[in-house]
Amino acid sequence: MGTLATLVSLLLLWAQAPCWSHSSEWTYSGGELDEEHWPRGYPECGGNRQSPIDLQRRKVRFNSALRALDLEGYGDDEAGQFPVTNNGHTVQISLPSSMRMTGPDGTVYRAVQMHYHWGGESFEVSGSEHTIDGMRRAMEIHVVHYNAKYESYEVAKDAPGGLAVLAAFVEAENAENTYYSSFISNLASIKHAGQSTVLHGLSVLNMLPQDLFHYYSYEGSLTTPPCTQNVRWFVLADSVKISNVQVWKMENTLLTHQNRTLQNGYRSTQPLHSRVVEANFRYFPSSVILSFIPYVLGSELRSYLHRIENNIQYLVESLEEVKRQV
Ligand SMILES: *[C@@H]1O[C@H](CO)[C@@H](O)[C@H](O)[C@H]1NC(C)=O
Repeated sequence: MGTLATLVSLLLLWAQAPCWSHSSEWTYSGGELDEEHWPRGYPECGGNRQSPIDLQRRKVRFNSALRALDLEGYGDDEAGQFPVTNNGHTVQISLPSSMRMTGPDGTVYRAVQMHYHWGGESFEVSGSEHTIDGMRRAMEIHVVHYNAKYESYEVAKDAPGGLAVLAAFVEAENAENTYYSSFISNLASIKHAGQSTVLHGLSVLNMLPQDLFHYYSYEGSLTTPPCTQNVRWFVLADSVKISNVQVWKMENTLLTHQNRTLQNGYRSTQPLHSRVVEANFRYFPSSVILSFIPYVLGSELRSYLHRIENNIQYLVESLEEVKRQV
């Protein structure tokens, strides 16, 4: 009887066993576990607190209590060695736990890794995961951290409030960003999925946008399987600029496990449901002021007024920051 029960439960286990062999076989498109079918293998991907999302600026709630993030050890570039891997989905840079981020509520997070999401599959150079008012930027950086109250990333990755991601957009311009040169030229040496190299003297700070103060924040998930819903997101409002050629190299150098060019590695935006996105800055639609100026006044005057408007907005934000610190 005991043996029969064991046999039956073994059979049941076998029947429930997933039909893929290891977790790296999920994809964004193509195959059994494409994005649409992630919830089949990873139920949390079908949850109601998923990332990425569309950041709709009109609906974002201003919260003056969202203090600046405190980034520690992000610029320690001299002595560092950074393992870099093509994991078949993206290029991932391992980060030392001496890199830390303190959130607005005082929670301390330790850095684990950073990686990129990009597009490149069609003529459109767009591959960010979050969108702003529906617009997808060229690329997106994710610096993944775990809550320092847990002893390791392994523990924190499944624990409540376990993770925080500092995200930033990358935009394409004509000028080369020299802080990216060595990183991008090294991609050729990790062309195949599973290959690794070591980068020396990387400054994560320099690879991020200038303005680290203004950000959006909300509760979400990992944007890849298992889509764990324990991520506090900080999405910077400013973006990094790299050249069109640098974006092109990011989009056309690495290969997936199937030896296909690693492109369009981003997840589509997920429903917000009952969540509210907050920001530590106010949004002024530029049309509010400019709409009062008739077009007949000419483009020079309009652009002049636009500059004044931007300066006023900057002053208002600076005053709010001063108020907060007093
Ligand atoms: C990908 O290409 C490499 C090098 O040419 C080869 O060793 C490997 O078997 C290929 N993998 C697949 C899945 O075709």
